[in-house]
Amino acid sequence: MAQDGNRKVYVKSYGCQMNVYDAQRMADVLAPEGYVETGEVGEADLVVLNTCHIREKAAEKVYSELGRVREMRREREAGGAGMQVVVAGCVAQAEGPEILRRAKGVDLVVGPQSYHRLPELLAEARRRPVVDTEFPAESKFDALPQATPERTRQRGVSAFVTVQEGCDKFCTFCVVPYTRGAEVSRPAAAILTEIARLAAAGVREVSLLGQNVNGYHGEGLDGADWSLARLIRRVAEVPGIDRIRYTTSHPRDMDGELIALHGDLPAMMPYLHLPVQSGSDAILSAMNRKHGRDEYLRIIDQVRAARPDIAVSSDFIVGFPGETDADFRDTMDLVERVGFAGAFSFKYSPRPGTPAADNAAQVPEGVKAARLAELQALLDRQLKAYNAATVGRTVDVLVEKAGRHPGQMVGKSPYLQPVAFEGGGAQIGDIVPVRVTALGTYSLLGERADIEPERATA
Ligand code: 5AD
Ligand code: SF4
Repeated sequence: MAQDGNRKVYVKSYGCQMNVYDAQRMADVLAPEGYVETGEVGEADLVVLNTCHIREKAAEKVYSELGRVREMRREREAGGAGMQVVVAGCVAQAEGPEILRRAKGVDLVVGPQSYHRLPELLAEARRRPVVDTEFPAESKFDALPQATPERTRQRGVSAFVTVQEGCDKFCTFCVVPYTRGAEVSRPAAAILTEIARLAAAGVREVSLLGQNVNGYHGEGLDGADWSLARLIRRVAEVPGIDRIRYTTSHPRDMDGELIALHGDLPAMMPYLHLPVQSGSDAILSAMNRKHGRDEYLRIIDQVRAARPDIAVSSDFIVGFPGETDADFRDTMDLVERVGFAGAFSFKYSPRPGTPAADNAAQVPEGVKAARLAELQALLDRQLKAYNAATVGRTVDVLVEKAGRHPGQMVGKSPYLQPVAFEGGGAQIGDIVPVRVTALGTYSLLGERADIEPERATA
């Protein structure tokens, strides 16, 4: 135990934003046990690796990290201190006991549905290694404690809230339906209570999370099933919440009501992450995406009709089994047509247990690499063009933290662009108009549009 009487926990998250949210919930469950968070593995009594299984590279990372953690553990043990090591998240769920075989020095392997049981599992793991990858009947959401106002404040003015978890879509490349299980939507009442608590502690922006968030269909306040659009309308009424985002959406669930919100709800941010994966109908069909390229292009047109300045981002996979040069050209063509404000793109990675992994028509690594480089070059040009078009405009910035230079503050535009500017007394949590003057390396640079420049630098 650490000398100051507190036990220290080091949590490292890989992968998606839901893992970030889950890591916070784990910290919240451990706080009443006396654990405080630390950023140093070496001083941790408890190390939690919150892992990602989406691609092979991500999944393998955990084993190299476990090697490093084991060294730290040895050093601590040599000094008479202990360390418990936990593998959580989607690798834990997918590989379970295999992790104990492959890596020495792991005390607990726990899947994403059992985080509420962490304290008892840790106690059990003091006696022998434990693996818990059950999908328990009770929902972890009912059992997980809420963050205290103090911890919420430390986490900042923009918060994630999981509203939906799991996926029933079964795209043929994807492990999510196996690692996160069947689709479950949380009841609106629980979500709204959580958001009201966050807002009371200073949060001004919420990002509603789900693997298939626009497929949300939770129990509404009136007992009826609510869509994501209905939920968002109600979230916008929570006092203090000025900005709402949601991710990740599936094109099939982009209904008219949700699209309309982008045009008529001021709190709805003009940003849409809508993965398309490929621009080829043949590949989309082989991926079991349940929509074609024209349907995607039509949705983007509708969204832009509702909100012309919306920033659209996406995910792409190149080198899916059977992808020909012509299929890849279709993807490049779709990207040219849409004009993305940002995107994530990946080489197809065969995942054990998914249908596409067994497909004989795997694409050679060199072809995948060449396609990825070409796609990323185009997406990068589009990102730069998008940001360049913001220069000269005034955007509202939600101030998130102090910048690197004295007096400088950093926040996000409605389009999710980082913006750095001379603060002029702006506080974290303020929303201030900033005139964008230049492109920086990692952010836009700007100046307050609501005060004189001399006052801003004073
Ligand atoms: N290989 C490569 N990329 C994948 N993704 C999901 N599964 C795979 C895979 N097997 C990508 C998709 C998804 C994003 C979260 O990760 O683009 O939208
Ligand atoms: Fe995976 Fe497809 Fe579900 Fe997204 S929609 S989580 S890509 S199976």
